Amino acid sequence: MRRMTLMLAMAAACAVLTAPASAQAASAADGEKIYNKRCKMCHALDRKKVGPALKDMNRDPEVLRTTITNGRRMMPAWGKKLSQDEIESLVLFIQKVQAEAGK
Ligand code: HEC
Repeated sequence: MRRMTLMLAMAAACAVLTAPASAQAASAADGEKIYNKRCKMCHALDRKKVGPALKDMNRDPEVLRTTITNGRRMMPAWGKKLSQDEIESLVLFIQKVQAEAGK
């Protein structure tokens, strides 16, 4: 019986690991991971660094999307490096930080 449970658990783990990345929808959790890797050196959550704090960024998701995709002055363009889903995840994460900052 224990063996059976173990085998089922392993099968479930394999299914999760082999799920194609493209099948996953955008999420704030993914956005946070990408932010930590690619944006944090210039953007803090709550204070100005090289660029504005996430909580002080524009509230219009379309402006966020366009700026992340095309860049602006010192802000690098990410349209060729990140997928639509990844950019959407970043927008969701920025909105979550803004909502938690309560402004
Ligand atoms: C090399 C530093 C640098 C990196 C890395 C960087 N940014 Fe920026 N970002 C800036 C600067 C500087 C600005 C202000 C642009 C301006 O002066 O108009 C900015 C502006 C922005 C804006 C516009 C904010 C507004 O209120 O309109 C967004 C959104 C943004 N960045 C998101 C991101 C995201 C998401 C990442 C990671 C994928 C990222 N940035 C990585 C420097 C950076």
